[in-house]
Amino acid sequence: MSTYLENNSIATGESQADPFSLLSLVAALESVTSAPSLEEIYAWLEKAEVSIEELQPYSGFKEGNYWRHRVCRNQFVEMLVLCWRPGQRTPIHDHNGSHGGVKVCQGMLWETTFYYDPVAGLEYKSAREHAAGSVTGSDVPDIHQLGNPDVSEQDLITLHVYAPPLGVLHTYKPGSAKIDLYTPDDIDS
Ligand SMILES: [Fe+2]
Repeated sequence: MSTYLENNSIATGESQADPFSLLSLVAALESVTSAPSLEEIYAWLEKAEVSIEELQPYSGFKEGNYWRHRVCRNQFVEMLVLCWRPGQRTPIHDHNGSHGGVKVCQGMLWETTFYYDPVAGLEYKSAREHAAGSVTGSDVPDIHQLGNPDVSEQDLITLHVYAPPLGVLHTYKPGSAKIDLYTPDDIDS
């Protein structure tokens, strides 16, 4: 983990104590030569202090669904900004072999996690809220649903790092053992 941080510090001319801007995060992700671990992703996101100005090129909302904006991607890792109006949420999904971390930049992130049993089907496990500045994430094979709660009455902006980059995801329905495939909409990202 420290190797990436040190390399990036040299590349960006920053000291270890400096917070990670979005530009520094991009430099760190572009320097990797293998998929970073979940611990490395958490360390980057916890250090990150991304301003609203830096997020501006990736900030855009849609009425029908949350909006994914890709910041960067290579064969090992990708980073996206997701913008959510109140009431918008993902399907219940896993990341099909990828792990990832999420930093809440603005607003309140709501996360529900689930158990999957091939016989009993999908069962509710836990629910949490993550305030601005929080970092959360999911390992393989975690199943979760993210969203901006209706009651928040504010927009939500989140920063996501996935390794390896997401492909086709698995989606689930409560009480069902059926697993469907889902390709996130990247047309606008
Ligand atoms: Fe997810």
